[in-house]
Amino acid sequence: MATLLYVTCSIKPKGKSRSMMLGDWFLEKYSELNPDDRIEIIDTYKDPVQKFDCDVMNGICRMREGETLGFLSDNEQIKIAKIYESADKFAAADKYVFVTPMWNLGFPPELKMYLDTVCIPGKTFVHTENGPAGLLRGKGRRCLSIHSSGWYHHGKESDHSVPYLKSIMSFMGVEDFRTVLLEGLDAEPHMAEIYFANAMKAATKAAAEF
Ligand SMILES: Cc1cc2nc3c(=O)[nH]c(=O)nc-3n(C[C@H](O)[C@H](O)[C@H](O)COP(=O)(O)O)c2cc1C
Repeated sequence: MATLLYVTCSIKPKGKSRSMMLGDWFLEKYSELNPDDRIEIIDTYKDPVQKFDCDVMNGICRMREGETLGFLSDNEQIKIAKIYESADKFAAADKYVFVTPMWNLGFPPELKMYLDTVCIPGKTFVHTENGPAGLLRGKGRRCLSIHSSGWYHHGKESDHSVPYLKSIMSFMGVEDFRTVLLEGLDAEPHMAEIYFANAMKAATKAAAEF
């Protein structure tokens, strides 16, 4: 039995978000094929994501200098506990699915805020004398990015979304990175039906192979 962490960041209601419709389709197929797997859903808009703010930064720096959690301020303790909880949950999962729209060449800010809660030293990576090393490496972890953009960015310098996610997952040691892309529906609305059907086929295949 595996644990799949399903992370979304759509501001639109269900049925309106292209990425969410595709993600839901994937999840339905995946759940049918893997009924015993545990699915954990994180909606970065609805679920409160702890911002990496001054208290968190101060507290983590003080702990790096040898201070223990119990000696930090109340605010620092509460916020760091939330960040650690998020990072622990992330580190405990086997599979990751990110369902995202493109916003201004990147992701909506809530997704970045969420990623900042899971890239935590001692939890998902460590500092070594040779630089940072991912702690999730060598554990068969895999990641699927289900991503929708209105225009075409895949393979272009303008794309700061999926390539960024791939890098950050690799940073934590997750090297098996897959994608299901739905591009160009705003550029070519007349192709919407065909593009959507193709993406759903790709999502069905991804579900069978994930
Ligand atoms: C604030 C905002 C910024 C966007 N920026 C881009 C962009 O930089 N490039 C692009 O191709 N599409 C952009 N889009 C279009 C969306 O990526 C596209 O419509 C996508 O399919 C939306 O997915 P969703 O329905 O899951 O939200 C943007 C949309 C919004 C609302």
